[in-house]
Amino acid sequence: MPTTAEPTLADVRSRLDEIDQAHLLTFYDELDEASQRSLLAQIDSLELERVPEWIDAYVRSKPAHEVDPDRLEPAPYYPADHASGAHAWDRAHYRSLGEDMLREGKVAAFTVAGGQGSRLGFDGPKGAFPATPVSRKPIFRCLAEWCLAAAARYGRAPLWAIMTSPLNHDATVAFFDRHGHFGLDRDDVLFFNQGVMPSFDMASGRILLARKGAVATNPDGHGGSLRALHHSGALETMRSRGVEHVSYFHVDNPIVRVVDPTFVGLHAHAPDSSAQMSSKMVPKASWDEKVGVFARIDDKTSVLEYSDLPERLARLTDDAGVIRFNAGSVGIHTIGVAFVESLNAGGGFSLPFHRAEKKVAHVDPATGEAVRPESPNAIKLETFVFDAIPLADRSIVYETDRTDEFAPIKNARGTDSPETSMRIQTERAARMLRAAGVAVPRTADGAPDCTLELAPTFATA
Ligand code: UD1
Repeated sequence: MPTTAEPTLADVRSRLDEIDQAHLLTFYDELDEASQRSLLAQIDSLELERVPEWIDAYVRSKPAHEVDPDRLEPAPYYPADHASGAHAWDRAHYRSLGEDMLREGKVAAFTVAGGQGSRLGFDGPKGAFPATPVSRKPIFRCLAEWCLAAAARYGRAPLWAIMTSPLNHDATVAFFDRHGHFGLDRDDVLFFNQGVMPSFDMASGRILLARKGAVATNPDGHGGSLRALHHSGALETMRSRGVEHVSYFHVDNPIVRVVDPTFVGLHAHAPDSSAQMSSKMVPKASWDEKVGVFARIDDKTSVLEYSDLPERLARLTDDAGVIRFNAGSVGIHTIGVAFVESLNAGGGFSLPFHRAEKKVAHVDPATGEAVRPESPNAIKLETFVFDAIPLADRSIVYETDRTDEFAPIKNARGTDSPETSMRIQTERAARMLRAAGVAVPRTADGAPDCTLELAPTFATA
């Protein structure tokens, strides 16, 4: 375990010797005193005792995540069409229960925003990306305006927790400062850092040095949020403010319902929910859409990442031609504070790691030279938040409409790009205007013949 006092060179060296990673101190004597201290503190903060186990399980071998197809069934869900059919349910009832929870301050919004966002190629925190079709509002402003709209509607703003990583923490906080927290009370916005994992050399299993005085690390995945909520003290803050559930979502989706009364009401009160962890889904756009899918594995609700669902199963359809595993995960969950506390109660809680082969620039300990690899040379380990779903006693899934709340910005071009997101945002605004009796011009193929933007403070879908 990391030491509580400032770590000494002798201590750190002996701990590294035990796990065969002493090369991390190769350049120690060349560093100035401040850099020496920061290197020792950084090494000391890693879970060094677990490094050999990680190398065996994930660097030297590739764990298979594939599941036995015979144990796999589609997960049931609360359908968006609540009013008819065998699975009809009382939407107004759950919405009203959820509204009570919001009025009582029992729900916090929770954005995971610690990722690297490398696919978008944007220089800055992803939440700072200009996302809306007309005024080019940054994503963080879109989310903040939802909180302001909720404050107007329910009499108080939800606490908004934002998880950052060492890669973007300072830039994120500075962005909020520069924009006056978008009109929110600064006490209602809570930032905390997620944990990091060392990055490993693929060939040798050695931890890489980013610089002579720094270990190469990567954020530990959005699954790290369940530990970081605890370690950062965010759970205590939530408890002290009467928060019982968090509305979890990714920073890449400018139209997410930041707090959704129907969803939190279902999560907390549906008879088949344990109020521990619930999820939203949208029907997949195509069998090969790159989203995880909800499935039941041995009677437990789970998400299978797209890369782990065999093509044969992904292509299966029912008699009506509907994709069998069609419940796509959009990275939106409601999670009970008590559930997160219980996961962390034993101290050593960790979700399974997923391994990714990446290019990581580093310093070669043999020569001291900087290396910029042309092909993947490193293994990064991350945990995924949805791997906590099967740890819940019972977990429900709720179908939502893609146009109403899923317009992610992940790639610079093509699918899930600013262009596709803005198109969905326009379509969503057009539907809302039509519902309010405003005619929106459409082209021959049915798309809005205009560009539209509605602020959440004006109307929410
Ligand atoms: C993710 C899901 C996928 C889902 C899709 C919906 C995974 C592995 N897959 O894909 O099943 O269908 O979203 O949009 O998650 N983040 C952190 N810290 C980290 C890593 C990520 O906060 O260490 C945050 C990112 O900032 C982002 C979110 O998690 O907000 C999603 O991460 P990303 O890696 O972009 O996942 P996707 O590949 O988009």
